[in-house]
Amino acid sequence: MPGSLFEAARACLDAASVAAKLDATFAATAAFGRGELVVPDDAPAPEPVRMPGRPARPQLVHPRGLPRRGLGSVQGRAAFIHAIAHIEFNAIDLAWDAVYRFRGMPAQYYADWVSCARDEARHFAMLQARLRTMGHAYGDFDAHNGLWEMAEKTAHDGLARMALVPRVLEARGLDVTPGMIRRLQDVGDTATVEILEVILREEVAHVAAGSRWFRWYCERAGVAPLPTFRRLLAEYARAVLYGPFNHEARSRAGFSADELRMLEESLLTTD
Ligand SMILES: [Fe+2]
Ligand SMILES: [Fe+2]
Repeated sequence: MPGSLFEAARACLDAASVAAKLDATFAATAAFGRGELVVPDDAPAPEPVRMPGRPARPQLVHPRGLPRRGLGSVQGRAAFIHAIAHIEFNAIDLAWDAVYRFRGMPAQYYADWVSCARDEARHFAMLQARLRTMGHAYGDFDAHNGLWEMAEKTAHDGLARMALVPRVLEARGLDVTPGMIRRLQDVGDTATVEILEVILREEVAHVAAGSRWFRWYCERAGVAPLPTFRRLLAEYARAVLYGPFNHEARSRAGFSADELRMLEESLLTTD
């Protein structure tokens, strides 16, 4: 008998060690692919959002407490790769929470976020392996909790979640990764460049899924996407909206020309 996708997602969220989170995620996404996990019709309401299982390290600190390091030294590059690995580790939980929390969605919604969870676990594993070759492990540097905080703030509303997690936080990766790739090329770190190129390519699909389901929610609610997105940015994202924006990648990820123009304008007005 097939198991419940919601229970599997909850188990992935709860998994606390790095190995347990990756193992549970790869096992659940494979089982979903084989049709062994289904969305039950009679699932109870999700439990309230809470901190997902996390390893004891990295220690979570205020973003201002994180040192900025250059990419010229091995130590600096390891800290930089660690920061991206932390984003990917959070992204595993964010994808599973999108699956777990929002009930009664079309089948494709769940397929999209299960696929995203698998990508994020793979991205994390690639960066973890890269860190190891540099003599480091995930947990060696401090990190911040900003990504999960946005999951908590939007746990009551799938429309807000789609607008703010994939289309603001994940979309930021589309803006900044090309510059990171160039800086790593300058210091000759081709191994990390190759990983970031895979991540950049695959993140477009995650942001595109966010765009798709944001528009789906807007249509269901009978609201216009552009003013709704603008309102949510003002309400939740004043402190986390940065430019410049990668118009080309964001267009491929479902941002309309009007939305991109609005993003540019909102930078001018929040200064
Ligand atoms: Fe990722
Ligand atoms: Fe992602």
